[in-house]
Amino acid sequence: MDKLKGMTALITGATRGIGRGIMEAFAREGAELFLVARGAALEDAVKHCRDLGLKADGLAGDVGDPAFAKTAVDKCVEVFGKLDILVNNAGITRDSLLVRMKEADFDEVIRVNLKGAYSFMQSAAIVMMKKRYGRIINVTSVVGQTGNAGQANYAASKAGVVGMTMTAARELASRNVTVNAIAPGFITTDMTGGLQDKVKEKLLESIPMGRFGSVEDVAGAAVYLASGDAGYVTGQVISVNGGMAMGV
Ligand SMILES: NC(=O)c1ccc[n+]([C@@H]2O[C@H](COP(=O)([O-])OP(=O)(O)OC[C@H]3O[C@@H](n4cnc5c(N)ncnc54)[C@H](O)[C@@H]3O)[C@@H](O)[C@H]2O)c1
Repeated sequence: MDKLKGMTALITGATRGIGRGIMEAFAREGAELFLVARGAALEDAVKHCRDLGLKADGLAGDVGDPAFAKTAVDKCVEVFGKLDILVNNAGITRDSLLVRMKEADFDEVIRVNLKGAYSFMQSAAIVMMKKRYGRIINVTSVVGQTGNAGQANYAASKAGVVGMTMTAARELASRNVTVNAIAPGFITTDMTGGLQDKVKEKLLESIPMGRFGSVEDVAGAAVYLASGDAGYVTGQVISVNGGMAMGV
């Protein structure tokens, strides 16, 4: 408890799934929360945090729009006076085999998953560098490390996030801003809910722990990276995958 007390965290895609799990875990650790997501669900999420007695605010919009990223970071700083932790979690899939993949689906996944993370990191880094303090956490995927049939666009976006994480870690380390990534394996959320049972069974065979992960499994890693415990950890990718892809 209270590992993040007094810290201001901006979380993208905070209304459901992994982002919501991270929001709940950060709330339990006493963080002030600035939430970003698409649509009306955002207001409910902000209200939920306020009902827990926390300072919370948010902004609805499209993370793939660089102007929105700047506006969201500016609003966070306006409301809380600072930004200590950025979690780039919002992400989408538009799956199909490479030979059938539509250019628009390739572009959209790169725009949201990779460009979105870039835009938020850029705006947040400017604020954090001035303060000589910051924690940036990017949610990538095991798929960015191993590839996955039907996900050329998604795998490219997530591998791109890893390269960008390590680059930013090198650029920001001297200003006491750490930049790390979390690579979840298969986590039970709406994103994976649509998988066919046959596909799920096959996936389970590839997971040494024999189960899909929970959003709490991922949130625990996010709390660690955001907390003082990880002060000397930067440029790393923490895999939370039940042993699915060891040694990558
Ligand atoms: N579920 C998994 O098994 C799994 C595995 C590895 C990585 N991930 C990654 O974890 C992250 C969260 O995944 P999830 O399973 O919770 O997904 P989800 O679909 O349940 O939730 C995604 C969230 O992102 C938001 N979002 C999506 N596009 C957005 C946009 N353009 N602008 C603003 N907000 C947007 C949605 O509003 C939602 O809050 C994603 O980056 C995903 O790639 C998920």
